[in-house]
Amino acid sequence: MSPKAIPAVRPSYQDRLTAAREGPVRLTSNENRMGLPQSVRKAIVEAFEDANIYPDDSGVFLTEALADRHGIEFEGIVHGHGSTDLLRMAVPSLAVGHSRIRLVMADPTFEQIAGYAEPYGVDLLHVPLERPSWAHDIDAMRQAVDEGSDPALVYICNPNNPTGSLTPVPPLEEWILEAPESHLFVIDEAYFEYVDDPRYRSLDRLAWERPNVVVLRTFSKIYAMAGLRVGYAVAHPHTAARLKQFKSGRGPSHTSNMAALTALADGQIIRRALDANRESKGIVLEVLDELGLGHIESHTNFVMHDVHGDVPLYVERMEEAGFLVGRPFPSVPSYNRVSLGTPAEMRSWADTLRSFRERGWV
Ligand SMILES: Cc1ncc(COP(=O)(O)O)c(C=O)c1O
Repeated sequence: MSPKAIPAVRPSYQDRLTAAREGPVRLTSNENRMGLPQSVRKAIVEAFEDANIYPDDSGVFLTEALADRHGIEFEGIVHGHGSTDLLRMAVPSLAVGHSRIRLVMADPTFEQIAGYAEPYGVDLLHVPLERPSWAHDIDAMRQAVDEGSDPALVYICNPNNPTGSLTPVPPLEEWILEAPESHLFVIDEAYFEYVDDPRYRSLDRLAWERPNVVVLRTFSKIYAMAGLRVGYAVAHPHTAARLKQFKSGRGPSHTSNMAALTALADGQIIRRALDANRESKGIVLEVLDELGLGHIESHTNFVMHDVHGDVPLYVERMEEAGFLVGRPFPSVPSYNRVSLGTPAEMRSWADTLRSFRERGWV
């Protein structure tokens, strides 16, 4: 839809949408800059035909397709408004009925779940990522949790945002298998499709088999559907039923469900995104190398890299030059996270970085 098609009730909306489209290149939220393929656009337009009815049927179709994809039964899928909706549901699924819970998470990591946990009376335990691997420090997380007795929510983002790093699966799996039932492991696999590394695999099977672990996936990243809000959890039927108690309304719209179903069936989307991502990453790594700026090995669609100095100032300068880049992460000083846009966008970003070097800014 063109911004011009928005009714002129509030012209400011129109201005802001136009500005968002025509303003700086968004290399800030790890979205897929390739946009939606034709197959999904067509499905969205066709779905408007049924916009007058509740999305119950399409929600069922999507759930069935996801269960097939993971080789599990229908009861093991809970879908919601993006995977953050599932993060939101996971908190009360553990916390309701307890006066306090603990939330153990890495530093740095994707912080959203901490905000959802706050109203429930949570003791927040941050455990730094290991260096130099930037993997979750499973031993230290385990130790932190073993010290208390309140139920524990363990959040593991693998691969991790904002570092793009991997956590090897075997020690994590061992912990899950040995942990008491009062622990709930939330494994966020938002960037699963980007990983090409033999040390990595999904924990979806374990989530289906054991009640103390859920795996989260999203259509917001590789499927380029961040604005359509579809994500889901893979869980044991008991855990899934508990999560569903905290669902908001009827789940994503019919349009979003049909877009996700079509995206799943389109064999080209992932290949196309991975090809572009590989090329864009190559452009980024080449300029970082050329300028002697270090980076963390990325298994995702973003790269965390050195900018040699004041990150807020760097972010401001990048915006002036036409690029929105990641916010500062205090535990990784002097580093910035850049999302991988199209190869053309990344060539232009790389030239900007070179010009910053000429001015002595990085
Ligand atoms: C690790 C992680 N999980 C979840 C999300 C949000 O996903 P969704 O759009 O599905 O809510 C993000 C978005 O940046 C993310 O990085």
